[in-house]
Amino acid sequence: MSKTSTPVDERLFAFLATKTIAEDDYLAGLRIAAAKAGLPEIHIAPEQAAYLQLQLRAMNAMNVIEVGTLGGYSAIAMARGMPAAGRIVTHEIEPAHAEFARKWIANSDQAGKIEVSVGNAADTLRKLPDGETDAIFLDADKTGYVDYLEQSLRLLRPGGVVMADNVLAGGQIADGTEEKEVALRAFLDAAMAAPNLQSVVVPLGDGIFFGVKRD
Ligand SMILES: C[S@@+](CC[C@H](N)C(=O)[O-])C[C@H]1O[C@@H](n2cnc3c(N)ncnc32)[C@H](O)[C@@H]1O
Repeated sequence: MSKTSTPVDERLFAFLATKTIAEDDYLAGLRIAAAKAGLPEIHIAPEQAAYLQLQLRAMNAMNVIEVGTLGGYSAIAMARGMPAAGRIVTHEIEPAHAEFARKWIANSDQAGKIEVSVGNAADTLRKLPDGETDAIFLDADKTGYVDYLEQSLRLLRPGGVVMADNVLAGGQIADGTEEKEVALRAFLDAAMAAPNLQSVVVPLGDGIFFGVKRD
């Protein structure tokens, strides 16, 4: 029987991390300041940030939506993969998170590209126009993911991509019974059932979903 995959243990992963874009000093500082300010430590992992950034760079994304800003870590990382005229609107429900993110975005080298929109993404996404977005990154409440996917398929242009964090659900995605785990499984089921979406799960960090809206 042929070997189809190689398990990545901690030693191998540590080596691979040295061959991946490293976390820069600004993002490392943001992470530390966010923890000190009492924000939950639930930002994406540096290797996921590298992956998102390179996907956006590869597709020359100009117009990106993020759902779930927290302190702005992923928004700044993604903006670094976009041209100077590119724009990210990142949606955040907690005013304190948005305030922290705005400050760190304003002081970053990506300030002009990122706008923080405060509100419940379940409402704010519905106000945006069809078919104009190149890429969407979902990283907010997991019980909202099925709805965010439906909205994403409306908002994306043909060929646009939707990415989402946490699709490994801490290893419980296949059969976990907690609300979050069930919701993430429902998200993957909805993605598989969408006739105009092709997708793959990339096992980086807690898992990144990557889907392309077909023509
Ligand atoms: C996992 S964190 C985002 C991390 C961020 N993407 C990063 O990696 O730096 C999730 C964020 O989504 C926000 N959130 C939760 N429910 C939301 C909703 N319905 N609409 C908008 N934001 C929401 C939370 O307040 C939290 O700041």
